[in-house]
Amino acid sequence: MILPVVLSGGSGTRLWPMSRRLYPKQFLPMLGGQETLLQSTLLRLNSVDDCNPPVLVCNAEHRFMVAAQAQEAGVKTSCIVLEPVARNTAPAIAAAALMALDAGQDPLLLVLPADHYIADPAAFAQAVIAGQKAAENDGLVTFGILPDKPETGYGYIRTSRAGEAAEALPVLEFVEKPHRAAAEKYVETGGYLWNSGMFLFKASAYLRELGAHSPEMLLACKKAVSQAIEDTDFVRLDEDAFAACPADSIDYAVMEKTHHAMVVPLACGWSDIGSWSALHEVLEKDASGNACIGDIYIRDVNNSYFHSDSRLVAALGVDSLVLIDTPDAVMVSTLNRVQEIKSIVSDLKEQG
Ligand code: GDD
Ligand code: MG
Repeated sequence: MILPVVLSGGSGTRLWPMSRRLYPKQFLPMLGGQETLLQSTLLRLNSVDDCNPPVLVCNAEHRFMVAAQAQEAGVKTSCIVLEPVARNTAPAIAAAALMALDAGQDPLLLVLPADHYIADPAAFAQAVIAGQKAAENDGLVTFGILPDKPETGYGYIRTSRAGEAAEALPVLEFVEKPHRAAAEKYVETGGYLWNSGMFLFKASAYLRELGAHSPEMLLACKKAVSQAIEDTDFVRLDEDAFAACPADSIDYAVMEKTHHAMVVPLACGWSDIGSWSALHEVLEKDASGNACIGDIYIRDVNNSYFHSDSRLVAALGVDSLVLIDTPDAVMVSTLNRVQEIKSIVSDLKEQG
């Protein structure tokens, strides 16, 4: 039995000004249609066999939006776990794992970020099947994407074979967010996959590894879960206990350290929609490489991305530009500098 755990607590600051603290990217229809990224993630589960209704883990301040979006998508949830403060992904997953064990089960947790794009859900569902045996044997399975550029925002996995495989392969090395030079070397030498950030493992296997490599985190999560308050569909983790938990991602806290990591190579048209350039890559474009969402008029424009929530936006004779128009903020950048938007957002916050 598979229990999906959908992580929906990120802030998506590189997609400012669309993505905001109260409305991060996972709650927005970033691909221009009707569905939000969270809803697409939930609906993708329909193609995965033997799946229970998902557990959603999110920040308490997003609870009503999460519940409403699941309901609107017609998706029944097992429960919605509320974090009083963000402590990154390792504790969020630990809370879901502990709750499953408390319910007397030890399911395979299928951990999914709420903000990914997958072009081919059937290929993803096949990869989940391919990873099950290894996960049932206590492996911590991740799904690996063949890298096509030295992106430093991802985890890199060295494995014996980087091509397609119908089963999980042992992970020889896991390096989270390497420096540029290392990432370039990994892509050049081959034999490395990107960590997609999606995982499959038994709840008990994850907790055992967390206990081995980050015991103080496991202790704090146990306390936060044992003192949690149930409130209709929501389970509210204990604030003091969870606030005392160290913050860290599953990638640093567990995957880099464990000897039980396995990887299923996955080719499914994956993107984590982490930036405007990543979004530009997956959106439909005209013959000159432009993606336009909203009321946009362009002439002699190449390789650019325009988004307008309401107003008419016109552009002339520009290349590799990103322009995002929202009701209270406009952002313009060249396509190759969009990673720096994160630091613009923190500067703006500092200035109040
Ligand atoms: N519930 C909860 N609580 N969810 C969280 C929290 C939190 O405190 N922090 C992040 N998330 C969610 C995000 O919304 C996202 O869906 C997912 O967890 C991953 O977090 P990110 O912050 O987006 O991680 P990342 O993109 O920097 O890195 C991860 O994903 C890459 C692929 O996209 C790592 O797993 C990398 O190794 C991986 O390559
Ligand atoms: Mg991400």
